[in-house]
Amino acid sequence: MPAQTHAVYRIEGGYPVIGEIHCLGAKNFVTKAMVAALLGDTPTTLTNVPPIGDVDITADMLTSIGVTITRSDDLMELDASTIRSSEVETPDSGSNRIPILLLSALLQRFDTVSVPVLGGCKIGERSIDFHLAAIEQFGGVVEVTDEGIVARRIKPFKGTHIQLPYPSVGATETCLYLSVLAEGRTVISNAAIEPEISELITMLRSMGAIIFTSPGRDIRVEGVKRLSGTRIEVLGDRIEAASWASLACASHGNVTVHGIRPDILGNFLSYFQQVGGGIELVGADSIRFFRKEPLRPAIIETDVYPGFSTDWQQPFAILLTQAHGISIIHETVFENRFGYLKALDKLGAKTQLMTHCLGSVPCRYRDGNYEHSAIITGPTPLTAADTITIPDLRAGLAYVIAAAIARGTTIINNIHFLERGYGNIVPRLAAMNLRIERIAASAYS
Ligand code: EPZ
Repeated sequence: MPAQTHAVYRIEGGYPVIGEIHCLGAKNFVTKAMVAALLGDTPTTLTNVPPIGDVDITADMLTSIGVTITRSDDLMELDASTIRSSEVETPDSGSNRIPILLLSALLQRFDTVSVPVLGGCKIGERSIDFHLAAIEQFGGVVEVTDEGIVARRIKPFKGTHIQLPYPSVGATETCLYLSVLAEGRTVISNAAIEPEISELITMLRSMGAIIFTSPGRDIRVEGVKRLSGTRIEVLGDRIEAASWASLACASHGNVTVHGIRPDILGNFLSYFQQVGGGIELVGADSIRFFRKEPLRPAIIETDVYPGFSTDWQQPFAILLTQAHGISIIHETVFENRFGYLKALDKLGAKTQLMTHCLGSVPCRYRDGNYEHSAIITGPTPLTAADTITIPDLRAGLAYVIAAAIARGTTIINNIHFLERGYGNIVPRLAAMNLRIERIAASAYS
């Protein structure tokens, strides 16, 4: 359910967060699966669909062109046979990153497609040049206007060799949507290999696509003439899981997270234990997280998978404010992803931003003037601030964690950012001893 912009969270912090929580379906897979459903001749069923704003936004865009969507609880059926238009409209609730992906999927059905301007978090320039170049290489032409993007297929799509300049998640998805129904062979080199990409490949294979992965970053696709619908369970959200781990550890709590495959958390589990967090595997897809030892500082460099995800750095930064010593985070994926640190300092954290690369991962921002390295000095007990305002989605949950460990009552504003990616936050966290309420903004002033 999209948030009302005038609601806020009130959190009374300082208590350990203890209990069990189920990870919802992954935000960064579910919407891509909804787009993939458009490639099938028959309906697709998704289960474990999370109740988040991004799903609603994507569903609204799909219904605007005639896709029939039926939802009940966490199940969603999408029937693309009823599509009647290729002009995607922006829903009242806003936009997200999905329009650029809709472009390539819909070009498999229509010669001309238009999509609205992209939304999503303002965490960098987030250029779409790789997507546009790929569409053109397959046989399309693209025009970007103030109202959105228009693409035309001027000849049948033909397989090609795409060399991505950077392993972009979105651009890899675009190439997959373009190649599965293109004529002949496509090779996508330097592709993203995030777990959500692997899951998309699994889904497309189950629809009839022929896709070969390799030990490196090459994906080979042999185009087929048609794909059918499928049924797939949305995998658990690894960003949520890392956030609950950070919350458990930072608050001296103890949280068992269900619905998450430990393998897709990859190196997170190692970083978590390196700083003093404890883990216990309590089932095939359940992990208990707690604080095992006094927290040690860390040097983190965000990177593409299997590196430390850029979406993990915000909750992990809260943990690092409680570590004994100086920690460093070098953000190499997005150039402007530390907007949330200022408010953290208001709660008592000691952070400093640098334009230098504080690390050794090759970074595209080395010669720019971007504050993309952060120094966090700890431990700093956090104290509640009257109001903190969320700048972007992942920062939103980091603020919830910060408020949970800060003594006193904090009001968190701009929660619509957070609720685009996290569902039922209040009941799920309240069930774990977190004193959190969602109230009208007018109720606290
Ligand atoms: C996806 O964004 C996720 N969003 C992001 O999560 C995630 O942080 C990111 O991948 C990296 O893992 C969704 O899946 C909806 P990219 P995406 O293309 O696909 C540059 C969240 O909060 N680039 O891998 O947009 C780009 O500027 C969000 O859930 C180009 O230069 O990310 C960035 O620096 C935030 N040209 C880098 O590549 C292009 O054409 C990685 O971006 C495309 C990308």
